[in-house]
Parts: sequence; C-alpha cells; structure tokens
Amino acid sequence: MKIISDINELRDHLRGQNRTSFVPTMGNLHEGHLSLMRLARQYGDPVVASIFVNRLQFGPNEDFDSYPRTMQADIDKLEQEGVYILFAPTEKDLYPQPQEYRVDPPQQLGDILEGEFRPGFFKGVCTVVLKLFSCVQPRVAVFGKKDYQQLMIVRQMASQFALPVEIVPAETIRAEDGLALSSRNIYLSSSERAEAPALQRQLSAMREQVLGLKEKTVSALMDIEAQALTQMQTRGWEPDYIAIRQQGDLAKPTQANLDSGQALVIVTAAKLGKTRLIDNLEI
Ligand code: PAF
Repeated sequence: MKIISDINELRDHLRGQNRTSFVPTMGNLHEGHLSLMRLARQYGDPVVASIFVNRLQFGPNEDFDSYPRTMQADIDKLEQEGVYILFAPTEKDLYPQPQEYRVDPPQQLGDILEGEFRPGFFKGVCTVVLKLFSCVQPRVAVFGKKDYQQLMIVRQMASQFALPVEIVPAETIRAEDGLALSSRNIYLSSSERAEAPALQRQLSAMREQVLGLKEKTVSALMDIEAQALTQMQTRGWEPDYIAIRQQGDLAKPTQANLDSGQALVIVTAAKLGKTRLIDNLEI
C-alpha cells in the first residue's frame, strides 16, 4: 500500500484510473470501516482510503484534540484489506491556506438533528468531502449508514454539484450485543459499555411500537418519541434527540405522508456519561 500525504503525488499515482473506489475516514479504524473497504472493492479498483481528522467539522468544545489517532494500527489494517493507496494528508497538505470557501448544506437538512446539536458540523463535513473528492476523483465513494444524515447530505451534495461520483451506502456494523461500532466507543467505561446497547434496544422497541400502530398518526409517533426519551433519561442517558423522521428527507412526518405510506427512520444521539453515541433504525 502506498501512503501519500501530498495532493499532487496522489494525483500522479491515480492518473488514468477511472474506476477508483474511495472510503474517506478519520482513522481509528474498526471492523465497521473495514467493511466499507470491502464494499468499496466490489464497486471499483483501485481502492483508496483516506485518514484525516477534519478540524472543520469539530465544534470548539468537541474532541478534536483527543480524537483517537492510531495511524500505525490503521495502516496495518488497511494493508490487510488490500487497499491500494492511503491518502493521509496533514492539515498543511489539505488546508495550505485557511479554507475560506466552504460548502453549506441547506438549512432544512444541515441544521436539524445532528446539525442542531453540532452547529457547523455538516458544513465542515461537506467541505472536506468535496475537497477529498477533488483530490481522489473517485467514481464511487462509500459512506456508512450509521451516519445516516451525513450519508444523505453527501449524496445530495454530489447530486446538486453533478459530481461524477456514485455514493454507495454501507450497512452499520454492530457488536454482538447490538452496539453500533464507532471510534468513540473507546471513551466508554466498562459499566457504560455494558449499558450502551440499550440505545439500540430502545430503537428496536420503538420500531415495534410503530409497526404495531393500528393507525399511524403524527401524535401517536410523538407519544412514542416522548416515551423513549423518558425511558432513556430514567436509565441515566442524556438524549439530544430520539426522533422518528421521514426516510426521504429526515423531516418530521406529515399526516399526508404517513397516510401515503412514507418510509420512516428513527434517528438518535444520546450521551452516556461523557460519550455521545449516535444510531438509527429504518422502519
Ligand atoms: O464519517 C467520517 O468519518 C467523517 O465525517 C468523514 C466523512 C471522513 C469526513 O471527515
């Protein structure tokens, strides 16, 4: 595997490739990321991964400085997966001047849910993803469904800018007890780690409740959300949101859309101790 940090050198290596399959990451790779690499291989060749902890998507009180950086272990894992190039730019490589041009997703998608609790997050994500796409020029890029809203926003950005890249979604990989794999799981203490799967169980219970409704109404869904919120708070969690939304645009379901069978998804972010976990479940 070639490890490249310089944008021009990356371009030299990829010149003439028109089936490049790309997986952007922030490193600290786990089985979830590796499943993205495997999926990428099914869609194209060569597979290029990137590792870059993107300052632009972290808020002032978030964990940019302490975000786990495990480069050598990550390299070993990517080599085993047969990744052709690891693009691992420094901040100077990717942002040689302050990144003043940014991509701002539309408010109705970028400022809700994650965007409400992490202001500017999706602006930072879109900006770096567009820049990484410009460096790698992939035909396909793989994004995990665990970051459901991110996947949707990146997909719409690619569509609105007519980027010549297909965005491929990858299923969430879970531990045996149901906890979605995440680099931030390492922040959990052992008792928190034992409690953490309760989030996924809550989503499953909500899904059953929604499926069991005789009539899907906006108020019935709101009751299910409110109950779930209370239950998680009672268990000691601090949920930012537990919301039943429309799969197509993550908006609150309207009665008309419920009546016409609009597909739904439950999305959540909740703090357990100091660790903020996110998860989702399609209905
Ligand atoms: O999902 C992530 O790891 C990051 O948001 C991404 C897409 C690599 C952009 O920094």
